[in-house]
Amino acid sequence: MTSTHKAWRLHAHNDLRFDDVETPRPASDGVVVRIEAGMVLSYTGKVLSGSVPYSLPPMPFVPGTNAIARVVAAGENVTHVRNGDRVFLSPHLRGDVPDRDPPQILIGLTAMATTPEALALQTRWRDGVFAEIAHWPAACVTPLANLDDKPATELIGLAKLIVPFGGLQRSGLRGGHTIIINGATGYFGSGAVMLAVAMGAGRVVAVGRKQAALEQLRDAFGPRVVPAAVTGDAASDLPIIRRAAGGAADVALDLLGAAKSTSTTLSTLRALRRGGRMVLMGSAEAPLELSFREMLANDWEVVGQFMYDRTAPGQLAALAAEGLLDLRKINVATFKLADFRRAVDAAAMMQSLDLTAVVP
Ligand SMILES: NC(=O)c1ccc[n+]([C@@H]2O[C@H](COP(=O)([O-])OP(=O)(O)OC[C@H]3O[C@@H](n4cnc5c(N)ncnc54)[C@H](OP(=O)(O)O)[C@@H]3O)[C@@H](O)[C@H]2O)c1
Repeated sequence: MTSTHKAWRLHAHNDLRFDDVETPRPASDGVVVRIEAGMVLSYTGKVLSGSVPYSLPPMPFVPGTNAIARVVAAGENVTHVRNGDRVFLSPHLRGDVPDRDPPQILIGLTAMATTPEALALQTRWRDGVFAEIAHWPAACVTPLANLDDKPATELIGLAKLIVPFGGLQRSGLRGGHTIIINGATGYFGSGAVMLAVAMGAGRVVAVGRKQAALEQLRDAFGPRVVPAAVTGDAASDLPIIRRAAGGAADVALDLLGAAKSTSTTLSTLRALRRGGRMVLMGSAEAPLELSFREMLANDWEVVGQFMYDRTAPGQLAALAAEGLLDLRKINVATFKLADFRRAVDAAAMMQSLDLTAVVP
């Protein structure tokens, strides 16, 4: 292993530098990896400029949340991966304490609360993936079994899919179910459509405002995907979604992004059968106005979901390893690590099944 490596570090908002940094040795509960491909989120530019209200790690730090990597050195207490293993890096680190609400951070991005415990966790694991080498907590390193023959620029698709996978697992989706994905044209929503098909949904109702983008999803993933183009007018949207669902749907996943209205979320809920469950993973600037009467009369469940279980990345990777999930359907644009600034600009323009990655 070399003694230094290249890393993009944020020294202050809008002050990003391509530094030579000392290559760490792994902590007893850490893993040092060589990055093969790192995913660039659409709003990375806003994170770097400070225009989104995130609780960033102490500066300077290396941004970047997810990657495909190879283990270079594992700490003395790490037993589930060894040198040379292909791995998936997840940013979602939870404090290892017997507490129902442990401190949580997203490495290379934000702390989920500004408690002393969360900030301490973030100070310790401050650096993300936009570098040649990363030091990652072993708890967030998942080995990728039987995927060694795939290029990292294909496997990085797992990083786009892991968020909606958490929501689909929470929804209780079963083989043959009808599921509604609201926000299906989005970065994560399109991934949810792709995954729901792979997980055996009988019908995937893709709800969105862009007819052509919804049809592209059907073309990519087959006739089990049924587009439902909506306008935000509740009176006309509900029959459109119900028709696309062939009646009432079993479950739903909502992945709206910064929506000004929750009208399509309510229409999605109203298209569920009695006892149906809707998982909220996205965001809206307007409140979701649930009616007590409708909720009780229909035995509906509405649940929020942040990220995914610790074991989810391995389960997701298994879908790809067993050939149930074709990651090549994701349109990956790659940039050299040195061209990171261009990658940030490209990521801001992504649509639907696009993904932007940097490769050292
Ligand atoms: N829960 C978690 O753990 C977790 C993790 C990561 C991200 N997220 C959240 O996931 C959300 C989606 O992220 P993303 O990157 O996929 O965003 P995105 O690419 O911008 O997609 C947003 C989607 O919402 C739709 N939309 C926005 N406003 C709408 C409205 N008023 N009515 C109907 N549809 C509307 C968009 O439709 P058009 O295409 O028609 O504009 C698009 O399909 C974000 O809020 C993000 O914060 C949650």
